[in-house]
Amino acid sequence: MALIKPRFEGSPLEAPEAFRKALGVWFSKDGKDFPWRRTSDPYAILVSEMMLQQTRVATVLGKGYYTRFLAEFPDVGALAAADDTRLLKAWEGLGYYRRARMLRDAASAVLDIHRGVFPSGEKELLALPGIGPYTAAALLSFSFGKPSALVDGNVSRVLSRLMDDPATIDSAATIKQHRKWALSLCNSEDPRRHHYAMMELGQTICRPGSPLCEMCPVTRFCKAREPENLPVKKKAPAVTKITEYAIWCRDATGRILLHCESGSRRKGLWKLPLRSAESCSALKMIFDTTYPITRYKVHLKVHEAETEPPANGEEWIAPERLGSLPVAAPFRKALNRLLSDF
Ligand code: ADE
Repeated sequence: MALIKPRFEGSPLEAPEAFRKALGVWFSKDGKDFPWRRTSDPYAILVSEMMLQQTRVATVLGKGYYTRFLAEFPDVGALAAADDTRLLKAWEGLGYYRRARMLRDAASAVLDIHRGVFPSGEKELLALPGIGPYTAAALLSFSFGKPSALVDGNVSRVLSRLMDDPATIDSAATIKQHRKWALSLCNSEDPRRHHYAMMELGQTICRPGSPLCEMCPVTRFCKAREPENLPVKKKAPAVTKITEYAIWCRDATGRILLHCESGSRRKGLWKLPLRSAESCSALKMIFDTTYPITRYKVHLKVHEAETEPPANGEEWIAPERLGSLPVAAPFRKALNRLLSDF
């Protein structure tokens, strides 16, 4: 019969070794084997962490983004030399394209400043473009085996509950406190595995809303009285609904009118040309979809239009070329559907 250990009455910070041991035993049994957990190459780790920052593990894994990206850009030199079209194409579907450009900027900086070799110090890592405290901590532990204050959203939720912390999770003071706690709990012998375990505990057991406390390997250390009400969060900004009016316009040879974005965060991405609500009012709507972006919920409505000459930034694109162009996800969905229907 399994021996049930008694509740630990103090803070887990008073018994870090017992806490780590319980967590480690659980992770050895239930830990997942993601492709980015099989490497310590700092470049590959950076790619995975950038991808996973605003995109779910299942999305990154499901469509093979990570392995395809590394096959296309195997090292900092290859990424630093990538042009916008290739870079955005490899990122297509992950959204938040600014991350791809940041990743390329970081690769260029490693190449230019550090002769292609990633620095292993926190200060030098933080000086690279797009690398903040979380990513620096991930590189320190996952690539260089150093203890670090690694706190992502999952770890922060675990810490709030473990410590029964009523502080608002996204305040600067809480972030600082959680980083301190994360470092105190970190296992200096195997920081990499320790952080994987903390992240995974948050992903699978110490879930938002309804944690599975009865299955939790560190429940005896947990101080949360109402774990389902932690962490306390600032009120999320209200979602604003907006409508985008686009046109589906083909010329006599079947080419499609597309617009390449410039100057914005989505620079270099292609989409169907947008028009005003008024200019689409007399046209037939042939496709619609909704998608979220930052604090907006966008209703995209595509209308069938007569052939018209390209405006600024617009071009006629033959359907065969579409596959090699980076296209924003909702527009890719529209194009796939419209090409099969019209
Ligand atoms: N393993 C390493 N980094 C990770 C991340 N950002 N999300 C989930 N699992 C990870």
